[in-house]
Amino acid sequence: STLPESKQYAQKDGFRFFMEKEIYEQSDVVSDCMLGRVNDNTTSFDEIDDSILEGINEIKICACGTSYHAGITSSYLFERLSKIKCNVEIASEFRYKQPLLTKDTLFIVISQSGETADTLEVLKMAKNAGLKTLVICNVDNSSMTRLADYTILTRAGIEKGVASTKAFSTQTVVLWMLALYFANIKNSICEDTMQKELTALREVPKALTIDDKIHEKTRRLSKRYLHGHGFFFIGRDVFYPLALEGALKLKEISYLHAEGYPSGEMKHGPIALADPELFTIALMPENLLYEKVKSNVEELSARDSTICSISPLDFELSDDFIKIKKTNHYMLEFFEMLVVLQLLSMEISIRLGNDVDMPRNLAKSVTVE
Ligand code: G6P
Repeated sequence: STLPESKQYAQKDGFRFFMEKEIYEQSDVVSDCMLGRVNDNTTSFDEIDDSILEGINEIKICACGTSYHAGITSSYLFERLSKIKCNVEIASEFRYKQPLLTKDTLFIVISQSGETADTLEVLKMAKNAGLKTLVICNVDNSSMTRLADYTILTRAGIEKGVASTKAFSTQTVVLWMLALYFANIKNSICEDTMQKELTALREVPKALTIDDKIHEKTRRLSKRYLHGHGFFFIGRDVFYPLALEGALKLKEISYLHAEGYPSGEMKHGPIALADPELFTIALMPENLLYEKVKSNVEELSARDSTICSISPLDFELSDDFIKIKKTNHYMLEFFEMLVVLQLLSMEISIRLGNDVDMPRNLAKSVTVE
C-alpha cells in the first residue's frame, strides 16, 4: 500500500482505548455504510441486483460471536419486512451437524474479519453444495469475500478493539437495508411502511451519537456494578439478540458473569437466581412489546433483583435508570441502547483495571478451530 503509516493503522486520537474511539466512531461509520444505499423509495447495493433472489425461498445465516448476534437481529427483520423464512446458526455448530442444504436457500455469512475459521468452513460447505452465497464483511479481499458469490462491505474501517463495536452496528444496518431491499423486490410491505423504515434508517447516525450525560451515567453506575456477582440482560424480539450482545461485551472485557435472555423465558428457570446481588439490565423499548417486557421485569423486581432499566420511559420499579431519547422506531431504540451497553461494559472494565482492547484469553480473529 502507498498510504502513509499513520493512515494505515488506526490511532487512538485522544481516547483512552481503541474500543472507546470505535464506540464514538459509530455514528460516522454508519453514515458511510449507508452512503448511496438509501434511496427515495427503497435501499440498494452496487454489489448485488434483483437476480439474487431468483429461486430463493429461504435465508440461512451463519456466523460467530458478535456477528452471530447481528444475524439473529436480522432474522426478525427478514421475516417481518421481506417475508422470507430466515434462520440463524452458530457456524461451529452448523459445521458438524450434517445440515440439509437446499438450493432454494440464500446462504449468508457475517464476519468482521472475513477470516474466522468456522464461518469460512460453512461458507465452503454451502458453496460446494451449489447454494448462492453472500458475505457481509468488513475486510475486502479477505478469505470470505474471495470465496462468496456476493459480498456486501460494511465500511466500518479498521476495528482494533478485540470486543467488536462498530463492526456490529454496521453489520446490523447492512442487514436492515438488505431486508428492505428484499422487501422492495418482493413487494412485501406497503409504501407507507417502506417510507417509515427509510426515514428511521436515515436517523441511525443520530441514534448512535453519544450524549455526554449518558456516558457520564454509565461511568457512575460502573462504581457499583463492578461488584455485581451476576448479570442478566433481558429483552424481547430484536432486543433479545441485543441483550445477548450486551452480556457478551460485559463478559469479554470485564470478566463478570453475564447472561442474555429473552425476557419471557426468565420464568422457565433463570428467575430462580433472582436476589439483590443479581443485576438485571432490562431493555425496555417504548415501540415494541413494552407492556410484555414490563411485566417480566416486574416479576424480577418482586424477587428482589436489582433492576437497571434502559428505556425512553420512566419505570418506577427500577433501582437505576438510563434514559434514552424518545424515537418512533424500535430499531432507533435498538441503536440508542447498543451504545449504552457498550459504554457500560467499557466503564466497568476500565474501573476494574483491565486491558479493554486486549482482554485475556481472547483474540480479535479466530483463524484456527
Ligand atoms: C472473535 C472476536 C469477536 C468476533 C468473533 C467473530 O471471537 O473476539 O469480537 O465477534 O471472533 O469474528 P468475525 O471476524 O468472524 O466477525
